Amino acid sequence: KENISVGLLGLGVVGSGVIQIINNHQEELVHQLGCSVSVGRVLVRDLEKARKKDIDPAVLTTSATDVIDDPNIDVIVEVMGGIEETRQYILKAFENGKHVITANKDLIALHGPELEDAAGKNNCDLYYEASVGGGIPLLRTLSDGLVSDRINQVMGIVNGTTNYIMTKMDKEGMPYDTALKQAQELGFAEADPTSDVEGLDAARKMVILARLAFLTDFDLEDVEVRGISNIALSDLEYGQKLGYVMKLIGFASFENEQVEVSVQPTFLAESHPLAGVENEFNAVYVNGEAVGETMFYGPGAGSLPTATAVMSDVVAVIKNMRLGVNGRRFIKPRFKKQLTPPTH
Ligand code: NDP
Ligand code: HSE
Repeated sequence: KENISVGLLGLGVVGSGVIQIINNHQEELVHQLGCSVSVGRVLVRDLEKARKKDIDPAVLTTSATDVIDDPNIDVIVEVMGGIEETRQYILKAFENGKHVITANKDLIALHGPELEDAAGKNNCDLYYEASVGGGIPLLRTLSDGLVSDRINQVMGIVNGTTNYIMTKMDKEGMPYDTALKQAQELGFAEADPTSDVEGLDAARKMVILARLAFLTDFDLEDVEVRGISNIALSDLEYGQKLGYVMKLIGFASFENEQVEVSVQPTFLAESHPLAGVENEFNAVYVNGEAVGETMFYGPGAGSLPTATAVMSDVVAVIKNMRLGVNGRRFIKPRFKKQLTPPTH
């Protein structure tokens, strides 16, 4: 094919970034792929909403089947969020033989194994690089770069909104509510920011990281979670006086085939490398038996950084299509979930 047509489910913060990259980086895409990439149809909720000029209004629809059943569309990019409705759309897309890329950590944390199974049964790809770490190529690094290693720890800042809020409170004395409002205006927060501030978004990301890093069948309900909604300016000031900075830290370890995953506000010494990670930026340590300690840093939320991760998946899927292979196949968990020490 001389052109691959992509169908978008959603045209908000991330979807607009995807369109922007497809429009502005077409030369790079053609160079990499030997074909052009275009946007065929786009699902939105509200046709009357003002949109950026770089989207042709004729491609917009409020009917998901216009996108998922369109025979000219090969690749579906899901950037609408939500769980059950979205799950149904993705399952239907696989039935129709379409490859799916999603930025939806809620969905992958809850239904990732089922969706990967459905993708495999239909000879389709499912990629979700943008679901963790925004613009940081973290999942690809875990499942490709570090694939031969035995990873025993993943730890870091995986939520941009809470890091933005705490940076503003800590550095500028900004009230919590004002900082949260700014994070929403900048497009970092979830549609319902409760999942950011209560630590659930970070927990979902840690589940995805733990599954990929440790090859375990780990579930969201097994994560111990505490968010930042009860943190007061005075807590941060108190830490500051003692030379500490508070961060929402996701922690996952794998030892003797036992997994432990938690998310909680943590005081770090000012000299700690994670203490200097500010605003919406994320940073994640990965410790492997062979590689040792590695750290990945970059923008953890926002339109173009996240869209870059989505587009890396689009390119991977189209390359797979050209080779006639499926790339990211679900690897069955190597270890069964084991959370408490064995009694024997
Ligand atoms: P937005 O709220 O900005 O955009 C959502 C888009 O989806 C909108 O265009 C909306 O339509 C459309 N939409 C939502 N629900 C429906 C529905 N039921 N039917 C039809 N259209 C619908 O979200 P984001 O772009 O911020 O996030 C999208 C996904 O990416 C989420 O899963 C989020 O967790 C994930 N993500 C977001 C990041 C970020 O920095 N924002 C970073 C990494 C991942 P309309 O425009 O008409 O309202
Ligand atoms: N709401 C998320 C965050 C978006 O703030 O990290 C990126 O996944």
